[in-house]
Order: sequence, then C-alpha cells, then structure tokens
Amino acid sequence: MDLAIETIDLTKKYGSLVAVNRLNLRVIKGTIHGFLGPNGAGKTTTIKILVGLLKPDGGRAIVLGEEVHGDNPRARLKIGYMPELPKFPRHLKGWELLDIYGQMYGMPLQERRARIKRLMEVVGLKGRENDLIGEYSKGMQQRLGIAQALLSEPELVILDEPSLGLDPVGMVEVREMIREIAKDGVTIFLSSHLLSEVEQVCTHISIIHRGICLAEGPLKDIISKISGTAILEVEVAETPDKIVEAVKRLPFVSNIHVEGSKVMIETNADGDVRPQISRAIIETGGTIIYMNVKMRSLEEAFMRLIMKSG
Ligand SMILES: Nc1ncnc2c1ncn2[C@@H]1O[C@H](COP(=O)(O)OP(=O)(O)OP(=O)(O)O)[C@@H](O)[C@H]1O
Ligand SMILES: [Mg+2]
Repeated sequence: MDLAIETIDLTKKYGSLVAVNRLNLRVIKGTIHGFLGPNGAGKTTTIKILVGLLKPDGGRAIVLGEEVHGDNPRARLKIGYMPELPKFPRHLKGWELLDIYGQMYGMPLQERRARIKRLMEVVGLKGRENDLIGEYSKGMQQRLGIAQALLSEPELVILDEPSLGLDPVGMVEVREMIREIAKDGVTIFLSSHLLSEVEQVCTHISIIHRGICLAEGPLKDIISKISGTAILEVEVAETPDKIVEAVKRLPFVSNIHVEGSKVMIETNADGDVRPQISRAIIETGGTIIYMNVKMRSLEEAFMRLIMKSG
C-alpha cells in the first residue's frame, strides 16, 4: 500500500511531558485522513515534526517516501502545510502574500499569476485579492492559509485545524473545498478536535489521546469496531410480533424493540449479520420492506475510546 505519511514509534517530549508517545501513523495516499483528538492530545506537535519544524526525540517519520530530517526544501515543495491559526502579515494584500510564497518556491512570474488567480477562486476569495490581510476576517485568513498550502500543487496537504475560527457556513465551505482538492488525487491530512467535522469529510481517521494512537483505519471500520454494537432498523409489512420472537433467538442479537412497523435490532457481532437476520424474518413468513444499519456516530465511538483509555 502506498503511504503518504508513516511514523514509527515517533516520540516527542517537552521536559517530562510526553506529548507524542511512540506514535505509529499510516496515511494512505489519495485519502482524506482525519487526525482526531481532544485539546492537548499531541496533534500539532506531530504535524510540526512531519513538516520538519520540530525534531522528534525518538522514532521515525517518513513523508512521501522520504525520511524527515529537519527542514528539507525539496520535500517541502511536495507538501502543503497550513499551521494552526495561521498569522500572516497584516500589511500585505492577499495576493501579495501568495506571490511571496510563490517566489520562495521558485515559481516563474506567469505561473504565479495564473496559479494565484485560480486559487483565490478555489478558496472563495475572488474579488478580495487586493484587500489587506489586516482587513480580512478570521475565516478569510483561514482560507488564505489553505490557498497558501495549495500553492506549490503539493501531493500532500497537511492542515492543522482547518475549521478553527470558522462559522458553520464557513465550515461547510471548507469541507467542500477539501473534497474538491482530494478529487485531484491529493492526499489530505487534517487535524481536528471536532468529531462531526471529521466524520463528514474524512475517509480514514487516526484517534490520538495523550500522544498515543488509540485507533486507526477507514472511518466506518473504526466506528463499528470501537462502538462494538450496531443497530439494524428493519421495516416489515406485517405485525412484527412473530418476527421479534424469531430474531430474538439469534445468538448475536443483544436487544430488540418495536417502533411502529419497524423492528430495531441491536447486535454485538463483528461482521455483517444482515443475511442471517433477513433469513430469520423470511422463514417466519415475514416480508422485509426496508433494512438499514444505523452507524453509531463518531462522537459516541470517540468518547468510548477516550473513557476506556482513562
Ligand atoms: N512548546 C511547548 N512547550 C511545552 N509543552 C508544550 C509545547 N507545545 C505543546 N506542549 C504540550 O504538549 C501537549 C500536546 O500539545 P499539542 O499542541 O501538540 O496538542 P494538540 O492536539 O494540537 O491540541 P489542540 O487541539 O489544543 O490544538 C500539550 O500537553 C501541550 O501543553
Ligand atoms: Mg493543535
């Protein structure tokens, strides 16, 4: 599997505090990977190591196939990075900031102009290019931060809390932006403490708490794995009494109750039990109109994990 980011036992201490504790991350190329954890979990510290701004005390970090050893200008071109709450010089105009970054990347004038024009459109700042950054709202500065991260057409974009300081509309827009960027095959690694945010945009997640990775994998797998149980909602054509009796006998059914024409079945099986359930219903002469697996929310899964790890 092609990995965009891999860390092996990555460790960072601040004095006696272990901010990142033998962290093993695996971010698959082409995914939108959420790095989720509560305040102080070690997200920003990890990200700073990945982009070469902090030196780890132990372990390794490999980004786009290259070992990270401090700042590496060649690798930096392939990585877009938006720091947590980016602070840009207030006296510059929006486009000027991007132009300076473009010059640092060694982009020729024509290419810079065209790219900046396009990026301002992508991040929704078209028409505000000539305004001073000091006159931008927080959300606009965040957007400019995203544009800056995309400037060098990176293969990997690392965003530290991209929705911090945004209002709900801004958050929706940033999510859409992230999905758009990912369509071109760009890998996106974004940190967040907002579960709902990650749940709505990410394909994969890593959950970190006190510097330790508690779970990692495809979003759906993580939710079902850590929540342990799934709820199946089954709508049937006839009165459900007989069906309830039959389904109750299945060994993996932990709870069952009826809501109108719907039977809500709680299961504690690892795999997909829909075939067994539909067979049991059909054998009693029942007709299934609709069946749906209700996922537990990431919020629930996340809280369970954090509580368990203490
Ligand atoms: N420069 C520093 N000196 C000392 N301790 C630090 C420093 N930077 C971070 N820490 C500590 O390391 C831990 C991890 O911090 P970090 O900023 O990586 O967390 P985070 O997951 O990004 O949190 P948030 O969601 O609040 O941004 C915290 O306990 C924090 O207080
Ligand atoms: Mg942080």
